[in-house]
Amino acid sequence: MKRLLILALLAAVLPAMSSCSSDAVLKSPDGRIRFTVSADAEGKPQYSVCVGGDVLISASPLGLEASETSLGDGFSIVGIERNSKNEVWTQPWGENKTMRDRHDEMAVALENKSGVRLTVRVRAFDDGIGFRYEYETQEDSLTVLAENTAFRFASDGISWSIPANFETYELDVREQALSATENANTPFTFKVGDAYGSIHEAALYDFPEMNLYQSDSLGFRCELAPRQDGCKARVPGCFKTPWRTIQTAPDAVGLINSSLILNLNEPSVIDDTSWIKPQKYVGVWWGMHLGTHGWICDERHGATTQNALRHIDFAAENNIGGVLFEGWNQGWESWGGRQHFNYTEPYPDFDLKLVAEYAAEKGVELWMHNETGGSIFEYEAALDEAFAMYEDLGVNYLKTGYAGGMPENIRHHSQRAVRHYQTVVEKAAGHRIMIDAHEPIKETGIRRTWPNMMTREGAKGMEWNAWSKGNSSEYLCTIPFVRLLSGPMDYTPGVFDIYYRRAAASPQRQEWNGPNSECYIKTTIARQIANWVLLYSPLQMACDLIENYEGHPAFQFFRDFDPDCDWSKAVAGEIGDYIVIVRRAGNRFFLGAGTDAEPRNLEVPLDFLEPGVTYEAVIYGDDLSAPYILQPDGTTAPDKTAYVIRTIEVASRDILDVAMAQDGGQAVIFTPKEPL
Ligand code: NOJ
Ligand code: CA
Repeated sequence: MKRLLILALLAAVLPAMSSCSSDAVLKSPDGRIRFTVSADAEGKPQYSVCVGGDVLISASPLGLEASETSLGDGFSIVGIERNSKNEVWTQPWGENKTMRDRHDEMAVALENKSGVRLTVRVRAFDDGIGFRYEYETQEDSLTVLAENTAFRFASDGISWSIPANFETYELDVREQALSATENANTPFTFKVGDAYGSIHEAALYDFPEMNLYQSDSLGFRCELAPRQDGCKARVPGCFKTPWRTIQTAPDAVGLINSSLILNLNEPSVIDDTSWIKPQKYVGVWWGMHLGTHGWICDERHGATTQNALRHIDFAAENNIGGVLFEGWNQGWESWGGRQHFNYTEPYPDFDLKLVAEYAAEKGVELWMHNETGGSIFEYEAALDEAFAMYEDLGVNYLKTGYAGGMPENIRHHSQRAVRHYQTVVEKAAGHRIMIDAHEPIKETGIRRTWPNMMTREGAKGMEWNAWSKGNSSEYLCTIPFVRLLSGPMDYTPGVFDIYYRRAAASPQRQEWNGPNSECYIKTTIARQIANWVLLYSPLQMACDLIENYEGHPAFQFFRDFDPDCDWSKAVAGEIGDYIVIVRRAGNRFFLGAGTDAEPRNLEVPLDFLEPGVTYEAVIYGDDLSAPYILQPDGTTAPDKTAYVIRTIEVASRDILDVAMAQDGGQAVIFTPKEPL
């Protein structure tokens, strides 16, 4: 009797303890993170997360809803299987070529009266957790109506995110209280108490993307991108969802140094990856956004044979592997309407064969560009022929674009669109083509499985500076902790003509998306250089007009830069304030540092350098004595084009003083003085 009473009392207090002590509990290898799965009184599965003894996520629902059968309730736990892994794996390219996957796993099996078996598979790493649903039902196929997963924060904090949106990621990042965040896309980065974290998803295949909407105070429910008919997805009767992930770290840079998302993706399905290589590139591109050139074939046409040869010569002379030509193909006249691009036919003033041969002669790779304007049906129909042709031409790199609405009301981030983006990656792999996707689906780590999916846009990139207020230095201190947690970004850094003086003087300029006379780059030139290190992309562009690099002393950085890094570490930073990242490629190290509108002095220990080796450090920094000048938008600030280059000798025991101007930065190349 007494025992029964104690049990009844315990049952009454347990829910209040956020089920942190019930049975299906998984701990991270270091014991810091605890993930608990249980079923509530109606058999609805739920979970909670404790980090370092504090509840981070209190009891929150799990599961999906479908029209054919019950996927969301009536469940009881029927078994738990456990597993663990501790292995090192390698990848052909990445921030780090060698990765460690160390996790403990718990597969919680639940069953309900409709004969549905749901396995909640949970992996706990020291830097966060991932969980996914594996459903087995009696149905042939299912119509997914909703996802029940929610993230109910136990306490308020700060969040950094872009708004929820199923069409675009090219939106400003907001810093606001968790409780004031009405909706968000992911990565959804937060700070609660002293802990940093970020919610995202991993391995998104054949399923809509997930956004977050505040459902109750501090609670965020998942909203899936809808199909045209309003339901969310069509899936087979037995299926797995992408992983839902929560990274955690004791400091902000810990989020960047995490490999959680990649660890939750499967190893490469491409056996021979020898053709997949990082590369630096330039292109016929920035002129279009500034309006000095255009995509269509008229007197301002950028992609002419003559201009192409000039760019190939420039790449060959400056240790740059590739050249991108936008506007090489027919169809641009109809972009923005019911566009019909031709993916194989060049404009008459672009001799594709000659350009390809000239590039090959010079050892430079020719990039193709396929803007679709969102016309995915037409593009899918053209893929086989176009990719076969590109392969014959020796093309290995392709930039794609989806700037425009998809047909039949298909949302850019819906299940149908996710399928489209994946089809392109897989078909490209069949022709040894690497992809750089603009207006893409967000990265969820599929680059591990499909390493030819190199980089993507998926945030406000450089182009916004040409024809809008553009991106602030604070934004640039924020996206490494938000968008870039998902993977590489083709931001296309490196404008040297900060005030667009050459474009302003050009008689053929027709402002695109204009008027934009107040537009300019909101950072110093040293920060533009640092962004090549800070904003990771295996395909890294020097995006300015090549005339602005010719004869410019600071362009030596890009000539020497190697985007094929072996190791990376974010060594200092606070979200939106400042950031320092170092990368190693071979025996050289590259450091990038950036600040927001506050001038800042940082002391960076050089303990990442090889001990006992003397390095020559070439420092590209802000000129702190730059005069204040009037900026194009009427504000006054130090001249952003002022920079200094200096060379010093350093060793691993030294501390580097990084002094940055307002909106400034610093970039350093460390080269060993004696052979290692
Ligand atoms: C938007 C892309 O982000 C940009 O890089 C490209 O130049 C235009 N679309 C045209 O394709
Ligand atoms: Ca874009």
